[in-house]
Amino acid sequence: MAIREILTAPDPRLRRISTPVEVVDDAVRALMDDMVETMYDAKGIGLAAIQVDVPRRVIVMDLAGEDEEPSPIYFVNPEILDPSGETSLYQEGCLSVPEFYEEVERPAKCRVRYLDYNGVETTLDAEGLFATCIQHEMDHLNGVLFIDHLSRLKRDRILRKLKKEQRLAAMA
Ligand code: NI
Repeated sequence: MAIREILTAPDPRLRRISTPVEVVDDAVRALMDDMVETMYDAKGIGLAAIQVDVPRRVIVMDLAGEDEEPSPIYFVNPEILDPSGETSLYQEGCLSVPEFYEEVERPAKCRVRYLDYNGVETTLDAEGLFATCIQHEMDHLNGVLFIDHLSRLKRDRILRKLKKEQRLAAMA
């Protein structure tokens, strides 16, 4: 397993559309293992493969609390089904938009159908943080970031600050 570099906005590579995985083989499992290690290292709760520069439809997530055993979930080729009309607001962050947190409104419930770590088709009902997180990660597979759900004013302000920080980091 290895920790991979996480791309940060406004890196154009984050805007690519991820392509489906054909078969869940050892190479895909090795990618997912690296993604989980990378996510834990960065103290995140979800990570899409595109964030480590692999434009494939793969997501990892772990919503266990700090005092709980790690319980990673692996999603290959996930699809969101039956998003509820009812919505909820969650303060979202993203490892590719470090240090910024903003409220985003999304369907409060949905189902997610995917292939698991062993390539077995699975369907889960999602609500609460799980529903928010899976929809956020699904957006990544389509080249969308949570800041795209904000007003243009807020989004531009965040992108400007990120660019400035990256310029400063490059000079250091
Ligand atoms: Ni994200």
